[in-house]
Amino acid sequence: MIRVAINGYGRIGRSVLRALYENGYRENIQVVAINELSDLDTISYLTRYDSTHGRFPLPVSCEGRSLRVGNDLIQYFSEAEPDAINWQQLNIDMLLECSGSFSSREHAQVYIDAGVKRMLLSQPADSDVDATIVYGFNESEIRSTHSIVSAASCTTNCIIPVLEAIQNLAGIEHGTTQTIHSAMNDQPIIDAYHKNDLRLTRSAMSSIIPVDTGLSKGIHRLLPDLGAKIACNALRVPTINVSAIDLVVRTEKVVTKEEINTYFESLSLGKYKNILGFTKEPHASVDFNHDARSVIIDGTQTQVVDGKLVKLLCWFDNEWGYANRMLDVADYWGRKISK
Ligand SMILES: NC(=O)c1ccc[n+]([C@@H]2O[C@H](COP(=O)([O-])OP(=O)(O)OC[C@H]3O[C@@H](n4cnc5c(N)ncnc54)[C@H](OP(=O)(O)O)[C@@H]3O)[C@@H](O)[C@H]2O)c1
Repeated sequence: MIRVAINGYGRIGRSVLRALYENGYRENIQVVAINELSDLDTISYLTRYDSTHGRFPLPVSCEGRSLRVGNDLIQYFSEAEPDAINWQQLNIDMLLECSGSFSSREHAQVYIDAGVKRMLLSQPADSDVDATIVYGFNESEIRSTHSIVSAASCTTNCIIPVLEAIQNLAGIEHGTTQTIHSAMNDQPIIDAYHKNDLRLTRSAMSSIIPVDTGLSKGIHRLLPDLGAKIACNALRVPTINVSAIDLVVRTEKVVTKEEINTYFESLSLGKYKNILGFTKEPHASVDFNHDARSVIIDGTQTQVVDGKLVKLLCWFDNEWGYANRMLDVADYWGRKISK
């Protein structure tokens, strides 16, 4: 059993706590503290009720300065500065950093200096972290000696297994990804000021908005041979959850639509079971809400032009899939440190 704390209890932090209780991770992982800038009553309320994922499966309430979840008591802190909390006294094995405010090794190191033994970051972070892990693909790279590990991004978790599969099946010359991502909390509901990005000043609910993406860098870090060969763009769309990547690649060998779909279906039942899914049902994005897999290939949308131009539609629940992968990485890392 490892003891963890959650720093930043927003969409990802709350999804992580819920997935811990819903999907069996609680057997190996105990959350002993949550640090979030909002107040405890609101934290309790937003744990109980969630517009995207529904009601929490266990009773949740405030008890003094703690959150009670079922039989567990989770200490609550509300500190913006890492050294304001006595992390050593909490005796945690790992901090799940879900605030998005600590993106570099230098920033994360402030927590380590303040007594946190290990940090798992809910974002790609800089390349000087100890490891960037896409669970199912390269978790074996985690070492018990690591202190700052990134669980990559939701888009990286979606696309890496898919690119690896096409590379193995037919080779990849080059390609593009177009992420179609649900709205996020860094966008306003109606136009509002934003510190450094003019596009993020625009109403999330009235436009399709191009945004910056670091997915090319993520691909480069995980699949270095492909990094410079894939160009990536991202659009935010006015839905509250579930996203997709429209992937186009030129393959080295000739392939057919049937070969591609059969290959992905076999991966979904074998090597990538519970990580990569395959469907031939006529779906809309909402069907993948609360789907714990990193990516689901929509076989109805697979196309091949002239034998080598391959187009795939890859669905993913950007919150729930990612939260489950964070817990997979935490669990895996925890087993390494307890050996
Ligand atoms: N949402 C997704 O689909 C998704 C998927 C994968 C990865 N991620 C990544 O996960 C991170 C969080 O995303 P999110 O969507 O969960 O954002 P979010 O809903 O805005 O949650 C972030 C939470 O952290 C709190 N916070 C900010 N600074 C803090 C600090 N110093 N200490 C403690 N808490 C702090 C924020 O409080 P205030 O609001 O009061 O500032 C907010 O409640 C980002 O890096 C994002 O890129 C998100």
